[in-house]
Amino acid sequence: MNNTIGVIGLGVMGSNIALNMANNGEKVAVYNYTRDLTDKLLHRIEGQQINPYYDVQKFVQSLATPRKIFLMVTAGAAIDSVISSLVPFLEPSDIIMDGGNSHYEDTARRYDVLKSKGIDYLGIGISGGEVGALNGPSIMPGGDREVYEKVAPILTKIAAQVDGTPCCTYIGPKGAGHFVKMVHNGIEYADMQLITEAYSFLRDRLQLSVNEIADNFDTWNQGELKSYLIEITAEILKKKDDKTGLPLIDVILDKVGQKGTGKWTSMQAIDNGIPLSIITESLFSRYVSALKDERVIAEEILAGPKMEQRELDKDAWIEYVRQALYMGKVCAYAQGFTQYKMTSDLYDWNLPLEEIALIFRGGCIIRAEFLNGISAAYQSQANLTNLLIAPFFAEKVKEYQSGLRKIVCEGINSGISFPCLSTSLSYFDSFRTARSNASLLQAQRDYFGAHTYERIDMEGVFHTDWN
Ligand code: 6PG
Repeated sequence: MNNTIGVIGLGVMGSNIALNMANNGEKVAVYNYTRDLTDKLLHRIEGQQINPYYDVQKFVQSLATPRKIFLMVTAGAAIDSVISSLVPFLEPSDIIMDGGNSHYEDTARRYDVLKSKGIDYLGIGISGGEVGALNGPSIMPGGDREVYEKVAPILTKIAAQVDGTPCCTYIGPKGAGHFVKMVHNGIEYADMQLITEAYSFLRDRLQLSVNEIADNFDTWNQGELKSYLIEITAEILKKKDDKTGLPLIDVILDKVGQKGTGKWTSMQAIDNGIPLSIITESLFSRYVSALKDERVIAEEILAGPKMEQRELDKDAWIEYVRQALYMGKVCAYAQGFTQYKMTSDLYDWNLPLEEIALIFRGGCIIRAEFLNGISAAYQSQANLTNLLIAPFFAEKVKEYQSGLRKIVCEGINSGISFPCLSTSLSYFDSFRTARSNASLLQAQRDYFGAHTYERIDMEGVFHTDWN
């Protein structure tokens, strides 16, 4: 049959990836563990070359060699069992690609196992949700570069394109692609949380209506905050509930779910000594939101301050919120990209940070105008340790920090919860402090545990008999 690529897993993402490949001229074999999803996809075909198979062996045998098989299967044990079902029918140099949100360490493990059998494996981060999968996602492939080169013509074709450049680039060895996708999701969590905090201030403190806030997000989306998440927030706020006529946002239960990638991002940072407070706070905010019943009880018991009554100049304060949001985002991205840099150094991955910022400009959930600035920062300084000290961002945060300080103080005095905005400010203030209070912590450790300390004026390790 000589299908040019095969897709296994025909949920929404898998079906859309298969259609995207077929729309781009590939002859696609598809297989799903259960028949219903295959049949559902077949109803969506309009002349594209998509050929269904209901037997794994026949699916594999229909592929041109070296075979290229793209898995869009739920991360976890299902991937291992699909791989096991494929292996008996594969030959050396066939390529399996995992396009799901797999943990990067699982990907590295699968890479090693398959390598020992001569089968090539790529862990491919894909972002963009179902629309991105169909029309062009951002694609983060990890594995052997020469194996990537074999599938690059397909991947670059199906990726989002920005200014004629595909949002797909080789990321690094083994699990590097899935690692980059994982941290992308962590950044996504922080970005989303920062937006919700800006919304809280506009609604609760400035008393803007939901429509006014939506218009405001639309306006912000014309400027340097331009991004997919700002755009969809405006659309979400405009949406009315069919049943009640209220803004839909007002009837959605305030409990946030998560599928794990944000948690993995924080865990990896904690394990490796990487400061990731903003992303981690955004994760914890989701956990607090999940305690709905407890929060309802607590509201009866725990009074906060009265909402400040002082009249604020709306236009001026909307601008402060904009600056606070921008600066919070810079700090969150600075943490995420520091995680890339530190992990890349740790594993010798040589992650292409400049290109990672470029492939995030289109297709993915965190696509945003200011990724151009991030990419430019790494272009002029490939070894940049932190985005905050890149000249462009250093200048921005110098200007915008007063907005962030005003919003955090005013919000906190009004009893508004600001986990990520306040953490951004703390991170900024601690990062820009050359001589910090950590000396006192070291002294405390030495006092009760003789853990020793270093001195600023002498080499060596010291212990004081404090008593
Ligand atoms: C993407 C998304 C995608 C998914 C997340 C959502 O880049 O397309 O990040 O991967 O929407 O898994 O994560 P939570 O369910 O954890 O919020």
